[in-house]
Amino acid sequence: MHAIPDFLYGTAWKEDRTAALAELAIRSGFRAIDTANQRRHYFEAGVGKGLTAAYTAGLVTRADLFLQTKFTYQAGQDHRLPYDPAASLSTQVAQSMASSLEHLGTDHVDSFVLHGPASPSHWTTDDFETWQAMIKERDAGRTRLLGVSNISLGQLQQMSRAHAEPPAFVQNRCYAARGWDRDVRAFCRERNIIYQGFSLLTANVEVLRHPLVAGVAARLNASPAQIIFAFARQVDILPLTGTTNPEHMKQDLESRSLELPPDAVNAIETIAG
Ligand SMILES: NC(=O)c1ccc[n+]([C@@H]2O[C@H](COP(=O)([O-])OP(=O)(O)OC[C@H]3O[C@@H](n4cnc5c(N)ncnc54)[C@H](OP(=O)(O)O)[C@@H]3O)[C@@H](O)[C@H]2O)c1
Repeated sequence: MHAIPDFLYGTAWKEDRTAALAELAIRSGFRAIDTANQRRHYFEAGVGKGLTAAYTAGLVTRADLFLQTKFTYQAGQDHRLPYDPAASLSTQVAQSMASSLEHLGTDHVDSFVLHGPASPSHWTTDDFETWQAMIKERDAGRTRLLGVSNISLGQLQQMSRAHAEPPAFVQNRCYAARGWDRDVRAFCRERNIIYQGFSLLTANVEVLRHPLVAGVAARLNASPAQIIFAFARQVDILPLTGTTNPEHMKQDLESRSLELPPDAVNAIETIAG
């Protein structure tokens, strides 16, 4: 798929159900899949099995899909590493990518994301080396685009001073209490970086129950979850959902046709911070 998707199906925490749920997501209409070569939270080979099942069933071809995976530092992994931890970071990036391509049964992904900077506070020399290695993967055609996740505004600013090449994507957890990551979103908007938001529902349980959201939901004959996804899209957040429920898969995708009035968008954007 060469366009940027409008919804990402997330495959974290699905273990033995990963293949079946990835196939079901595609069957339900998702065309973009988010995973990571981090066995601790994701079963990437299971995603690949789900893709094979979807291809075999004639639901889609590889060209119809947007596949996104991640490189995760050893500190974020358990003992099931997709690279030699004694190798340089550049080699680890190349090994992780080779393993992802094998898991996913493809010769390229659409997006390759640094799962998180090495330090919570700044952009380190390790991040510098890793990002350069990721650019090499992109230049070799093994990914179309690059991204970075779990990153603060300060780190993004340091990154942009250190590298000529900005990310195409930022993927962050989105708390309503922080204006839905307002500062990072503003940085992204100025630079045409696409902001992907995860935990839109799970990090904002109070917002889902808020009378304002319930009111908008009632007026539009939608569920509060659908309102949050529709809101996200209207403030340029590309949403992720990892729902395991076929009915929710449908509802989440159907939220794409909802249009919230501007006053509702503004009210939700400032609902908690
Ligand atoms: N970069 C990172 O570090 C990072 C971290 C976390 C997640 N992610 C990515 O983001 C993806 C999504 O994760 P997430 O944290 O957003 O949460 P999630 O694991 O997708 O959880 C979503 C929750 O919302 C519920 N839900 C979904 N649609 C609903 C609907 N229409 N109505 C009611 N409930 C609904 C789901 O329940 P049901 O299953 O019952 O529908 C589930 O409990 C992950 O799979 C992963 O790919 C990335």
